[in-house]
Amino acid sequence: MARPYQPSLLRGLHGITALLVLACWGSGLVVYSRYDGRWGRLPFELGGDWIDLHGSLGVALWPLALLFGLYSLSLGVRRLRQPANAAALLALGLAVGTGKLMQEDWLRQGQLQHLAYGLHLLAWLVIGAAVLAHLAAVLARGGRPLARSMFSLRQRSGDQPRDWPGQIRRHFRSSS
Ligand code: HEM
Repeated sequence: MARPYQPSLLRGLHGITALLVLACWGSGLVVYSRYDGRWGRLPFELGGDWIDLHGSLGVALWPLALLFGLYSLSLGVRRLRQPANAAALLALGLAVGTGKLMQEDWLRQGQLQHLAYGLHLLAWLVIGAAVLAHLAAVLARGGRPLARSMFSLRQRSGDQPRDWPGQIRRHFRSSS
């Protein structure tokens, strides 16, 4: 079977988004444990301003998630026929969207009753489950070679960063 290959623009957007999602998920867990903890807490305490860190990661994530979403809905739309890919994208939208409705001071002031916070907590669970399902589906479909293809640094000729504007133009020309 041919070695799977992912377009470099997809790998760039997907890789940075995935790293930021994982960092947001982990820092969100620390914030929940310290300021909420209604359903349990981490068995350790970490120093530092984790609300600030989580918020900064979220600020970095949303423009990338927007670009990645635009890519997925246009050049990458065929990959969204895989339900687990579509679910990961929807979960990303939910997490980023509800995060934008949050106000930093709510948790510091013990205000846990806001609907936006409840939805953001739910989004944290949903994106965790969606990413696990996405990973399981990738491994079931193409095993490690498919999973690795998303993080490979190999670039085919005609698929370098300087080729991205042409790839985008060709996509929109051929679909109009
Ligand atoms: C952490 C958050 C993640 C999110 C939000 C996410 C989201 C997505 C989405 C929306 C697509 C479809 C892209 C398109 O339409 O062009 C996709 C594809 C893919 N992702 Fe992820 N992903 C994540 C993590 C991962 C991880 C950790 C792996 C590890 C191997 C991975 C491997 C892949 C692969 C191989 C594809 C291409 C699958 C195909 O051709 O159908 N993803 N991802």
